[in-house]
Amino acid sequence: MPGLFPGNRFLAHSGAKFPIIQAPMTWIARAQLASAVSKAGALGMMETSSVDIAVTRREFAAIKAATSAPFGINLPIMFLRQNEDMEKQILDFLVEQKVRFVTTSAGNPRRHVERLKGAGIVVYHAVPSLEGALKAEDAGVDGLIVEGAESGGIRNAEEVNSFVLLQAVRERVRLPIVAAGGIVDGRGMAAAMALGAEAVAMGTRFVSSAESPVHPNYKAAIIAAGVDGTVMLPRPPRAKMRVLRTKASEAMAGGVEVQGRVSSVIDALYIGGDVDNTAGSAGQSAALIHEVKPAQAIIEDTMAGFWKEIDRLAALRG
Ligand SMILES: Cc1cc2nc3c(=O)[nH]c(=O)nc-3n(C[C@H](O)[C@H](O)[C@H](O)COP(=O)(O)O)c2cc1C
Repeated sequence: MPGLFPGNRFLAHSGAKFPIIQAPMTWIARAQLASAVSKAGALGMMETSSVDIAVTRREFAAIKAATSAPFGINLPIMFLRQNEDMEKQILDFLVEQKVRFVTTSAGNPRRHVERLKGAGIVVYHAVPSLEGALKAEDAGVDGLIVEGAESGGIRNAEEVNSFVLLQAVRERVRLPIVAAGGIVDGRGMAAAMALGAEAVAMGTRFVSSAESPVHPNYKAAIIAAGVDGTVMLPRPPRAKMRVLRTKASEAMAGGVEVQGRVSSVIDALYIGGDVDNTAGSAGQSAALIHEVKPAQAIIEDTMAGFWKEIDRLAALRG
């Protein structure tokens, strides 16, 4: 429907139809999932954390073959720095392909902003704190992904939740904000927008989508999780990590170093489906997810729920 979301900077930047991003997630956010999300009008994101140009080229081509809808690419700065030659090849590839929308995460975006923006690429940076938001703005990014402590994956050790973090960033920063953490539907999306966001990102919701490539046991564990279904683990040197509450993650939270299969979460959990002996990332939003749904249904239901919520709030005027 034309005319929706007038002035929304995220939609202008990304070319997406709806202000919803599928969060970038190692191994999960590849062609199968990202193309399904983009086809449905939200912004699919492709991850590059394998730091392998062959994988990047393969997945990029597969998304292009599946859909002409816009999609984005995530650059995990910390991972890329481990192989500077590959980092350069991946950046060159994005520039050569005239990619429109890139997010950076886990590190200082200053390292890449000039090159990417010089090539006409829009850059949003993921931040878990107000301090990070101010630094990213200073580095010249075009927008922020603001990740509250509810989110799955690597988190700020300070554990500031989205309700306060979004407002604190909105007060101090003028850039467009994409809210991440705790959002699975239109109600959460409306709330995030009330707190200052122009778009939302969902991670855990898409891990448990039909097109997510992870083992059905992992999706089932997300669906079974209650409000206390995740735990925060230390992620040295300074961060934390929110994961599903399992036998292994409870032991790790208690200071026991769990060896072996836990270190290879992709093989053991994503492919092997071993929930008990691993610590797979998940957000507190798992408590709000009750079924595996196709990406298109997630997006349609989110948009329908969003407008319903907006109408409900508008009706408060009487
Ligand atoms: C399984 C999983 C893996 C993730 N991996 C990454 C990653 O590789 N890079 C990244 O920037 N964020 C990663 N994240 C964080 C997401 O990008 C996003 O911030 C988060 O999922 C939002 O919270 P939600 O899960 O409540 O939707 C991951 C999250 C999950 C659940």
